Amino acid sequence: MSAEFIAMVTAILGLIAAIITLWAVANSKKNDVVTITPPEDQETRNLIERTIWERKAPKRPAIYESSRPPILVVANMKGGVGKTTITANLGAFLSSAPQNKKVLLIDFDYQGSLSQSVLGQAGITDVSMSAHHLLLGTKPTEDALNFAPPMRFRDRDSGQMRLFRATYPFSTVENEIFVRWLTVPDHEVRYNLLRYLDSNDFKSAYEIAVVDCPPRITTATINALSAASHLLIPTQADGLSIPGAEYFSRQLMRMREEAFPSLKLLGVVPSITLAATGLKQVEEEELSELDAKLREVWPTVARSPGEIVMRGAFVPRSQSIRDAAGKGIAYLRDARAKQIFARLGAEVLQRLL
Ligand SMILES: Nc1ncnc2c1ncn2[C@@H]1O[C@H](COP(=O)(O)OP(=O)(O)O)[C@@H](O)[C@H]1O
Ligand SMILES: [Mg+2]
Repeated sequence: MSAEFIAMVTAILGLIAAIITLWAVANSKKNDVVTITPPEDQETRNLIERTIWERKAPKRPAIYESSRPPILVVANMKGGVGKTTITANLGAFLSSAPQNKKVLLIDFDYQGSLSQSVLGQAGITDVSMSAHHLLLGTKPTEDALNFAPPMRFRDRDSGQMRLFRATYPFSTVENEIFVRWLTVPDHEVRYNLLRYLDSNDFKSAYEIAVVDCPPRITTATINALSAASHLLIPTQADGLSIPGAEYFSRQLMRMREEAFPSLKLLGVVPSITLAATGLKQVEEEELSELDAKLREVWPTVARSPGEIVMRGAFVPRSQSIRDAAGKGIAYLRDARAKQIFARLGAEVLQRLL
C-alpha cells in the first residue's frame, strides 16, 4: 500500500469521525434536559418547602376584587433575560401612537435599570427614588402620583408615560418592610401596591401599569404579583434559562391561591434569541418543552388553548437594543427595534383582551 493511499484512508476516517462527533453534539441536547430536584436532606427540604412568604399568611382582603386597568408584571427568577428591556420598550409602544395609552411604569428592582433607561431617554440625569412610596403605602394616593411626573421624550411629546423610580436604597426599604411584616403581629405589607392601584386616583389617571421586578421573590415582587392581573415571563431559549422559568412558576403556584388568586399568565416571551429572522430549531425545542411544562403548572393562561410561549413575538438579540440599555429606549431610537417591540406589543394587547 502506498503512503498516499494510507494518508487518504486516514483523512477519510478522520472526516467520518468528525462528522459523527458533530452529529452526537447536535443531538446531545435531548439527553441534557435540566430538571431542578429538591435537596436530599430533610432539614433543607423543610426550609425551602414553604418560602418565608407562605409562612405568615393572613388571607388577601376581599375589598380589592374590584375591576381596575390591566396590571402587567414582568418577572422571572432568572436575571439577564430581558425583563427590564421588555418593560421599557413595551411602555414606549403602549404610550406611543396609535395606542396612545396612559401608561404607568413601576420600577420595583433596586438595581434601578428601568429608571435609568427611561429617564435617560427623557434626558433626566437626577435619578431619585419614588417607587418605595408605593411599597410603604403611607402616602395618600394623590400624593403618590406626584412622584411619577410625565416623561417627555425628545422626539415625541405625548407625556403619556409616567414612572415610579427605584435606586439601590430601595432594597433597604424592602428589608425594613419585610422585617416589620415578620415581627409585628397582624401587620400586612403584601397588598400595599394593590391598595394604590385599586384607588380612584390610579384608575382615573392610567389605562395600564407595567411593573419591572428583580430576579428574586422580594417584598416588591410579592407586592407586584399581589396587585397584578397578568404576568409576563421573559426567558432566553437555552438550557440555563428555561429551568428558571419553570421553577419560578411552581413557586408562584404554591402562593397563588392565597395571595394572588386572580393572577393570569399572559405568556412567556422568548428573549435575546439567536437569529433576527426566526427562532432556531434548538430554541424551538427548548420552548416546546417549556410550554408543555407550564401548561401543567398554570391553571389560568390568558389565551387558552393558544400557546403559552409567544413564539411569533420573540425579541432577537440586537445591537441597537443592547446599545440603548441604561441610556434610553430602543423602541424610540431605532426603526428595527421599533418593529420588534411593536410585534411583541401587539401580541400583548391581543392577549390582554
Ligand atoms: N434583545 C436584546 N438584544 C441584545 N441585548 C439585550 C436584549 N435584551 C436585553 N439585552 C441586554 O442584556 C442585558 C440584560 O437585559 P435586562 O433587560 O437588563 O435583563 P433583566 O432585567 O432580565 O436582568 C442588558 O445588558 C441588556 O441591554
Ligand atoms: Mg432587570
